[in-house]
Amino acid sequence: MSYAIVYSSRTGNTALLAKAVQETLPQADCLYCGAPAPEALAADTLYVGFWTDKGTCDQAVADFLRQLTGQKVFLFGTAGFGGSEAYFAQIMERVKENLAPGVQVTGTYMCQGKMPQAVRTRYEQMPESPRRAMMLANFDQAVSHPDAADLARLKEAVAR
Ligand SMILES: Cc1cc2nc3c(=O)[nH]c(=O)nc-3n(C[C@H](O)[C@H](O)[C@H](O)COP(=O)(O)O)c2cc1C
Repeated sequence: MSYAIVYSSRTGNTALLAKAVQETLPQADCLYCGAPAPEALAADTLYVGFWTDKGTCDQAVADFLRQLTGQKVFLFGTAGFGGSEAYFAQIMERVKENLAPGVQVTGTYMCQGKMPQAVRTRYEQMPESPRRAMMLANFDQAVSHPDAADLARLKEAVAR
């Protein structure tokens, strides 16, 4: 059974997840690993990784997912806001809206991913409020992610 790993990553977080997926699967069966590209569509199973943009997957991954027909797909992603499985589930539901009915989702995984320092600077400039405090706390929580435990959980989910 051939597979492809297709991912989009602006600042490297989702690329770390893609590398963990690659380390888990047998090299010999890998048809493609890299940015969204038509040659990946020939694989039986696709491992597709995205970064979260405005509550759903980035546009490059959305466009790619819409091209799938009968393949199996494992979806993984990173998001700046973490700490809530409900939030991740909501994102995943939106991502799945890009899939045709014949595409089978074999598994999903999400974790938090650090954001650029410029984002913290922007939060710091906001007037004091509970929302500002929450955004700053979330930013600081994200700084260490994806961490080793996040990658281990992803590897478990892929191996399952
Ligand atoms: C333009 C932009 C929009 C973003 N929108 C969201 C969002 O709606 N929700 C969220 O949780 N994180 C959001 N983020 C944070 C990223 O999804 C997060 O840092 C992710 O781990 C980046 O992955 P990458 O390093 O693979 O590019 C956004 C980041 C950028 C740059």
